Amino acid sequence: MQIGSLKLTSNLFLSPLAGYTNLPFRIVARELGGVGLATTDLVNARSLVERKAKALKLIESSDADRPLAVQIFGSVPEEMRDAAIYLASTGAASVDINMGCPVGKVCRTGSGSAMMTELERTASLAHTLVEAVKIPVTAKMRLGWDDANITAPDLARALEDAGVAAIFIHGRTRQQGFSGTVNLSGIRAVVDAVKEMPVIGNGDVTTPEAARKMIDDTGCAGVSIGRGAFYNPWIFQHTAHFLATGELLPEPSFSERVRVMSRHLDLMVQVFGESQACRMFRKVAPWHAKRFGPAHEFNKRVVRISSRAEFEDVLENYLRWRQQFLDDQGELKPRFRPAPLVASFMEEPGTLHPGHLPVPKGPVDVW
Ligand SMILES: Cc1cc2nc3c(=O)[nH]c(=O)nc-3n(C[C@H](O)[C@H](O)[C@H](O)COP(=O)(O)O)c2cc1C
Repeated sequence: MQIGSLKLTSNLFLSPLAGYTNLPFRIVARELGGVGLATTDLVNARSLVERKAKALKLIESSDADRPLAVQIFGSVPEEMRDAAIYLASTGAASVDINMGCPVGKVCRTGSGSAMMTELERTASLAHTLVEAVKIPVTAKMRLGWDDANITAPDLARALEDAGVAAIFIHGRTRQQGFSGTVNLSGIRAVVDAVKEMPVIGNGDVTTPEAARKMIDDTGCAGVSIGRGAFYNPWIFQHTAHFLATGELLPEPSFSERVRVMSRHLDLMVQVFGESQACRMFRKVAPWHAKRFGPAHEFNKRVVRISSRAEFEDVLENYLRWRQQFLDDQGELKPRFRPAPLVASFMEEPGTLHPGHLPVPKGPVDVW
């Protein structure tokens, strides 16, 4: 897989999830294998140009976090250009322009998903960046503003002409939020609209089979995974293996899940300091626990941790409590095993309780 001059070892991408895909999580996913390129949360271009501490923290990286794309948003071409120049100087492998953020205060300034409504202005802004830096410039968008305005195919073509090296496309409209089904034919239309530029499909991929179906049905060159990776950071390694061999690797064991969760907290402590890391981990740990089977005893207590030692204590108590759900082999009894997560486009028609992929709560749940 290649994006402009950038050669990648896999066609699987970690999608930006603001507040979640920070340096510690990117390292967790990369250590498990299969990630071709990971992206930072979206960063305000102006704040980067002004070297604001918050923006610099968002682009914090390390040798273990390569190659790294940084995603920026903004609508002032000079600010976006200067941010891209700065990022290239810091060693970013590529710069991604956010064209999908649906948050009102971002769109009102003409950035985020508002960019999907003004094709010429958006292509011209992208061209300014392409001219200014040697690293590839990419763009991430949805299918369009709403069903009546599906602009992604035309915009992708205009961006390719402007020199953009790849497009990431979430197969829903802005109006849809996270409801309904990822529209594979909508992604296909973007693939068909461009000449050579790689198009990377995105949305609801939770299993290797779903990634395979997205590639087969849309012709996309790669797949970007967001929430599915938060439930299951092994998804990249397992999908890469499945795409290469057709073989499905077994789900990670419970003890491996606990190991990775603890590793995640250790990395958070290194990057954010113990106190802030533990506060942040209160909303992160329950994601790991979603695949633990019965976990309310863990979730109830982990949302109050203030130190690494408290986390250990919560975990120890939980391991004791969880034993009641285990069989003689130490495995969860079948009725306590978590239900499989199902991609919206893999659900059987007429299923009564489709396995929706939940959206994290908070100010970003409109993404
Ligand atoms: C909490 C949250 C934060 C997100 N933050 C960003 C962001 O900063 N930039 C962006 O382009 N997309 C963002 N997205 C969209 C995701 O990158 C992705 O396109 C979307 O979640 C669909 O993919 P998934 O089903 O694999 O999660 C966010 C989504 C969520 C749920």
